[in-house]
Amino acid sequence: MATIGQIVLYSMVTLIVIFGALIILILALAFSRQTSEVMSSNSKPVANLGEDKLLSCYLPTETQPDRPGEVLVTWGKKALSVYRYENGAPALQGQAPQFRGRVQLFPDAVATGNASLLLRSVRSGDEGEYTCSIRSSAGRGKVNIQLRAAAFSAPTFKLSNGILTAEASRWFPQPTVTWMNQTGNVLNANTSFTKTSAGTFSIISTLKPVQSSGAYSCRIENNLVIAFSDAAITGTAVSGRTFFTFNVASSPPASLYLNVMISLLCIHYVT
Ligand SMILES: *[C@@H]1O[C@H](CO)[C@@H](O)[C@H](O)[C@H]1NC(C)=O
Repeated sequence: MATIGQIVLYSMVTLIVIFGALIILILALAFSRQTSEVMSSNSKPVANLGEDKLLSCYLPTETQPDRPGEVLVTWGKKALSVYRYENGAPALQGQAPQFRGRVQLFPDAVATGNASLLLRSVRSGDEGEYTCSIRSSAGRGKVNIQLRAAAFSAPTFKLSNGILTAEASRWFPQPTVTWMNQTGNVLNANTSFTKTSAGTFSIISTLKPVQSSGAYSCRIENNLVIAFSDAAITGTAVSGRTFFTFNVASSPPASLYLNVMISLLCIHYVT
């Protein structure tokens, strides 16, 4: 006869085994996604509207193809065919019209398993999820790339009568502008945005009074791009330096797994 204690023990052991198996299954799913043999150096690129953008997709060195002619590359955007490369040549029948004449691979690179796609003169309609898939005797797999587009340009700085002005010609979506002094205090500035005929914003931001030998930083930021600028004043001259960083939001699959894990832990806890 099983005692109450034994029944509780057995059911706990059973539960632990079931949850252990589930967790292993989830980890295996998560892991199988990560170990796809195709990689991208940037799976969430931000393109500058009107400029060209390289969408990175390649096989790692260990799985480079033996014979270049046998590499099959397909680039798609949801149901649309973006580009196809087969038997050492482009195979573009069925290519979606909006990509015609605007995309290319690098044949020399393809021979080494690098299927990166150059998209010319990016427009906002190009935003979205692309899938690159590579197949060769040495390896195969696919990678998703989330392309986002914004307009951004580095500001230029001018100094006149103790007023420091930053001008940036094209930004989209509309950004915010923040000025700080060297100690990191936010300063009051006057910023105006003008919508250009291209639909982007031009920015003029003025800061006063400024010191005749001071350093100021100016941050122009929207949801996709941040431009950090340093403006150094020496006498009547000002010099500026800018670098850009791009927003990399956490990818949905990772948070999905996390949610599943958390739900499982909650169920476990409740039972
Ligand atoms: C793939 O080819 C492109 C175009 O030539 C190049 O810019 C990129 O660095 C290459 N990527 C790798 C991982 O070799």
